[in-house]
Amino acid sequence: MRKESPVRKDERRGAWDAFDYQSVKYVLETKELFSSNRSKKQEDEQKSPIELSLISIDPPKHTQMRSLVKKAFTPKVMKEWRPRIERIAKQLLDEIDPASEIDIVTQFSYPLPVMVIAEILGVPIEDQSKFKEWSEWVVAGPKDNSPEAIKHLEQNQQRTYHELYVYFKEIISNKREHPEKDIISVLLGAEAQGTVLSEDEIIGFCILLLVAGNETTTNLISNAFYCFTEFPDIYEEILRNPKDILPLAIEEVLRYRSPVQAMSRVAKEDIILGDAQIKAGDIVVAWMGSANRDEQQFEQAGQFNIKRKPNPHLAFGKGIHFCLGAPLARLEAEIAIEEWMKRYPKFEKSSNFSLEPIESTFVYGLKEFKL
Ligand code: HEM
Repeated sequence: MRKESPVRKDERRGAWDAFDYQSVKYVLETKELFSSNRSKKQEDEQKSPIELSLISIDPPKHTQMRSLVKKAFTPKVMKEWRPRIERIAKQLLDEIDPASEIDIVTQFSYPLPVMVIAEILGVPIEDQSKFKEWSEWVVAGPKDNSPEAIKHLEQNQQRTYHELYVYFKEIISNKREHPEKDIISVLLGAEAQGTVLSEDEIIGFCILLLVAGNETTTNLISNAFYCFTEFPDIYEEILRNPKDILPLAIEEVLRYRSPVQAMSRVAKEDIILGDAQIKAGDIVVAWMGSANRDEQQFEQAGQFNIKRKPNPHLAFGKGIHFCLGAPLARLEAEIAIEEWMKRYPKFEKSSNFSLEPIESTFVYGLKEFKL
């Protein structure tokens, strides 16, 4: 498919699919031709917080907003988070009983990013179960295409957005009074210096972080362990020299088992891409998961090879919307694996070993991973 029809129209969906590395990269980085505003609603008032957030807007608004929120993800901020993330990883590992059956997803890779995001946003950890329910509704799709299923989803999403709005409004009002070392306080600080993030924009950004940063990072960590069960020698190689090898291994997991398989764009004008004649307004889906296995770009693309250098995978996107949380996701994965290795220097499957993939076209990860 990637070779024979690298860009083709799926008549059933009425959307274009780009599969090869060069086309996927082009779609993601050519902001002049491909818009991130996928909403069919015309008025801002009708849009959801995600439809108004960073990931769904184009320049010049995107440039403005990104320059403000990127303050919360600088290398200096990352350095401050390291001990906090280590503490969370250690706490989760303390709660695992090595003598009984372990499910890596439910006991480790799922709770870790949720707890980290709660800490980073500076919200009470007790609210974790609410976060889980909220983020699941925000990313959910309808059960089927019936009008009832669509209505049910819309009603629940509206309720979720309302609850999130009320929740964050109260948190923001507390943080204005008592700023701490968290993202919301940083963003409120930016507001105080006369820049332009409104309270609604801060709320939209918090909701985006919940949605964009949780399941993706869970899947990166689960997928890394999935690779170790397939290639146990690599686990040992990392263990011998984590400082040098672990970052390379994480990049290769991102390429080989990309947690986000695709992102979509809307053509701003008529565009010729390879043999494809895309019309203004058409949806174009950029399949990063496929691009990351393109033999034209990666030698022996089907092989898991942690020695690839450079490894220009597209798992975090490309261009102006490149994942803002990439340094955090990498740090979380690094700490998760380092701390796991300290407790379990041998990576061994038990007789109950089983794994269950998530059923999704866009998300690649595991629902369950019994070791
Ligand atoms: C954007 C993937 C973790 C926050 C993106 C995009 C991708 C992506 C592919 C680009 C979207 C586009 O081009 O339309 C991932 C993966 C992750 C991860 C694979 C984990 C392995 C995180 C984390 C956070 C985060 C931990 C924050 C807590 C964001 C934000 C954007 C974004 C705010 C929007 C950036 C913009 O539009 O300028 N992510 N992400 N992500 N991600 Fe991540």
